[in-house]
Amino acid sequence: MATSLRILAFAGSLRAGSYNRKLLANAVESLRGKAEIDLLDLREVAMPLYDGDLEQASGLPEGARAFKARLAAADAIVLATPEYNTTVPGTLKNAIDWASRGPDNPFRGKAVLVMGASPGSFGAVRSVMAVRQILTGLFAVIVPAAVQIGKADQAFDEAGRLREARSLATLEKACAELLRIATALKG
Ligand SMILES: Cc1cc2nc3c(=O)[nH]c(=O)nc-3n(C[C@H](O)[C@H](O)[C@H](O)COP(=O)(O)O)c2cc1C
Repeated sequence: MATSLRILAFAGSLRAGSYNRKLLANAVESLRGKAEIDLLDLREVAMPLYDGDLEQASGLPEGARAFKARLAAADAIVLATPEYNTTVPGTLKNAIDWASRGPDNPFRGKAVLVMGASPGSFGAVRSVMAVRQILTGLFAVIVPAAVQIGKADQAFDEAGRLREARSLATLEKACAELLRIATALKG
């Protein structure tokens, strides 16, 4: 087992029954044994809305510091994002905004696989594109593989596993690409 890569995995939804949490769990399963996985629940790093006055007065809040530390400790990132009003949910954008503050950018040079799930037909693709744009601006290296799970309310079985073999194969290929790019970047 190659343990030299550490991958941070998180979903952009706080909801316990989140389809994106389920999608992320399928990715974690695919990566198991091939990298060390740090599975993060964004609830563990709850943080206030970004406020420049708060930042100036007391720096990053505790949750933002914890999130940033988890990002910094990772060689690569896999995330699954919902789509809200055709774009990235505020919760995820807020967390990224806080983490981007301060001297060290924890996204720079890291491979990131951005996936999405939605009960609609488009599988959160507009949100995934928005997250890719944001992270490109932060000098992350976006894994170009697409994992969009539409009709997500029907896509998972009772154990949370993707029902369609084709979806699972797409996800596994994307995870393999993440490993390949992250390994190349680590040198
Ligand atoms: C404020 C809000 C806006 C939403 N807008 C969209 C949207 O633009 N496109 C979409 O496919 N689903 C949209 N949805 C539905 C979400 O895809 C759905 O709630 C999904 O279950 C959220 O992801 P999760 O299951 O990981 O929590 C929206 C949901 C909320 C709460």
